[in-house]
Amino acid sequence: MTQLPQNIGFVGAGNMASAIIGGLLSAGYDSARLCAIDPSEAAQTKLHNLGISEVGGQPGPTFRTSELVIVAVKPQFMQAATEGIKKHLAPETVVMSVAAGISVSALKDQLSNSNAPVVRCMPNTPALVGAGASGLFASPEVTDRQRAGIDAVMGVVGTTVWLEKESHIDVVTAISGSGPAYFFAFMEAMIATGERMGLDHETASQLTLQTALGAAKLATQQSDPVNELRRNVTSPGGTTERALESFDQDNLEALVNRGMQACLARAQEMAKEFG
Ligand SMILES: NC(=O)c1ccc[n+]([C@@H]2O[C@H](COP(=O)([O-])OP(=O)(O)OC[C@H]3O[C@@H](n4cnc5c(N)ncnc54)[C@H](OP(=O)(O)O)[C@@H]3O)[C@@H](O)[C@H]2O)c1
Repeated sequence: MTQLPQNIGFVGAGNMASAIIGGLLSAGYDSARLCAIDPSEAAQTKLHNLGISEVGGQPGPTFRTSELVIVAVKPQFMQAATEGIKKHLAPETVVMSVAAGISVSALKDQLSNSNAPVVRCMPNTPALVGAGASGLFASPEVTDRQRAGIDAVMGVVGTTVWLEKESHIDVVTAISGSGPAYFFAFMEAMIATGERMGLDHETASQLTLQTALGAAKLATQQSDPVNELRRNVTSPGGTTERALESFDQDNLEALVNRGMQACLARAQEMAKEFG
């Protein structure tokens, strides 16, 4: 816990902020050192119920002494959110945005501080269950100690990777940001096929979901690369081989490549739209 920032402020206390706050509290972080700004009464009540007292529409004392401020609003609300906090930030406070498409320079412009230490973070929704994957990019002003603090914060909701190039945030979006939806789509297709083959929806869902979980656990907990794991379940002349040959004939890799390229292109478009 020593690496975690002293006080942490949230701007926007919706799904993503709640996931991080939940992870911090589960890890034993003191609720008195957390605070949030969010106009939504529902969001305020939820945080009060978690024991966080400094929650409201305006920055309070904990916010003004926060070493880290996490801005977790939709990209279109980013300008309004930063406008409301910029006069209340200490010079050394790191501002981390989890909004897609807002560049480091746009964030600094919005904060009216070209030397502000800022971080872009692309999380994903499995953070809600502590199994997230976040890509992070820091401006040069962010110190190693601050990076370590952010790494510890995002580490409470999953794994983290630091990127050398800001453009790679868009690649993270194409892999892990949007990735959960690709796997959900694959699961939907497997469930629908299981039903067409005669199983009821619940049974097909149970088998599909547990298989996805089991495959992900095997891939993350064993040292074998995924292609080796695939070969291990593919006996020559067997059933799995027949399915994989069919995927190959339909060029599964090209299909995935086209989808991820489309995602990357949209992330780049959004970066242009939001600055
Ligand atoms: N890669 C991913 O899978 C992923 C996953 C989750 C989140 N994200 C990113 O994380 C960000 C937050 O997403 P979310 O799902 O947590 O959104 P959310 O649930 O809508 O939460 C955002 C909260 O911010 C509040 N808000 C709006 N304007 C504000 C302002 N000016 N100051 C303070 N609070 C304000 C909203 O209040 P109202 O409801 O009243 O507007 C809402 O409570 C988004 O930019 C999203 O793209 C990415």
